[in-house]
Amino acid sequence: MSAPLFQTPKGVRDILPEDHLYFSFIKKVVRHHCRRFGFRRISTPIFENVEVFNRSAGETSDIVEKEMFVFESKSGKRYALKPEGTAGVVRAYLEHGMSQLPKPVELYYIEPHFRYNRPQQGRYRQFHQFGVEVIGEADAAIDAQVIYLAHRINHDLGIADRLTLQLNTLGSLEDRKKYQEDLINYFTGKERSLCEDCKRRMLKNPLRILDCKEEDCQILASMAPKLKTSLSRESIDHFERLKEYLEELKVPYVLNRGLDYYTHTVFEFWSKKEGAQNATGGGGRYDGLIEIMGGESTPAVGFAAGIERVVDYMKEAGIRPPNKDAVAIFVAQLGLVAKKKCLSLLNELRDRGLNVVGAVGKDSMKAQMALADKMKASYSLILGQIEVQDGTIILRNMEKGSQETVSYEGIVDRMVKLCGGEGKLEQKKLWEE
Ligand code: HAM
Repeated sequence: MSAPLFQTPKGVRDILPEDHLYFSFIKKVVRHHCRRFGFRRISTPIFENVEVFNRSAGETSDIVEKEMFVFESKSGKRYALKPEGTAGVVRAYLEHGMSQLPKPVELYYIEPHFRYNRPQQGRYRQFHQFGVEVIGEADAAIDAQVIYLAHRINHDLGIADRLTLQLNTLGSLEDRKKYQEDLINYFTGKERSLCEDCKRRMLKNPLRILDCKEEDCQILASMAPKLKTSLSRESIDHFERLKEYLEELKVPYVLNRGLDYYTHTVFEFWSKKEGAQNATGGGGRYDGLIEIMGGESTPAVGFAAGIERVVDYMKEAGIRPPNKDAVAIFVAQLGLVAKKKCLSLLNELRDRGLNVVGAVGKDSMKAQMALADKMKASYSLILGQIEVQDGTIILRNMEKGSQETVSYEGIVDRMVKLCGGEGKLEQKKLWEE
């Protein structure tokens, strides 16, 4: 086969039908739990004014510095494809006066996102996230509930056992300010050993130096003062309470640390597998962000998970989502009269909620039955000239390979009964197979 004329751009992928089974199932589980928790769904645009992300993530974050798809409109306005969901949600919260709503405001989203990074397994330039944001309350019990929700979704998708919850605190905004000063003092005089990026980061956001991959920066960072020493009593209490709540909710965790706009709680779900460091999701408390975006000081906490990564982990765990696309009945026909009758039979069956395929474009019975096999239909209904004359139809059980001639009258009711409920083919429970 020669190479196709066109292919997807680097780092973006088609979601083929087989993967859509996973996507649909994940969305269903997410929607179910978010509703149960009282969240309401929000969608923000695929692109925003670039400033929305510059402000929220911070000019010196990796996302803003290197990973945004930025473009200019004909009138010279600069936009960016959204690299993550929180900034857009906060912008919408402020723009639509949601601060007037009873607190906390609980929102969730399932959306595509875009980051211009080097593609590799589990890292794409277009990917999908589901995420939640809880705006307006500062209590550590809210953090615990958000983490529990993420954990519960992982559990119901069958991947919780493969992940560890990495948890830490970054302290309050004041703690971080103090810590940044400590870091600036520490790195001052050592600039020559820092890489070019870190030299710039030093005054704007010295915390980023701690994440630098350059060897010299890492050596210096390992001896830098630790955040722990800058935490206030209140921040330590917040974190201690969160850990107690998680223990109460039986959500296991490992202590760690991370991302930019967070305060207090920060967390990620990591694979337990050695070497694999692709987080399936992460989040934290971002009490300073709403003020940075032009609102009043408002506490908030949230998380987001990468759907492509969740799918990889589900596949690795051997989990197959239920196949809502499964063909329940294949209808085959022979001869013009049968074909006509078949057209309305197909619709009657579909109207009762069954997935039904009829290869009305094919006249050969052999070709039709070969297709029924390929589609893994549970049953076939076969209508030829004789059956039309006799008022009958052939009902074939495709799995058993057995068949019988039955009355045409009442066939729709019979198929609905056979395939389960009001037209729904009985689905096996996902990972219990
Ligand atoms: P994040 O940690 O940058 O957080 O991304 C969350 C998840 O999105 C990651 O753990 C990963 O599974 C997935 N992800 C990120 N980049 C890619 C990529 N290039 N390809 C595939 N998957 C990817 C946030 O985005 C924050 N907005 C989370 C949050 C919500 N914090 C508070 N509220």
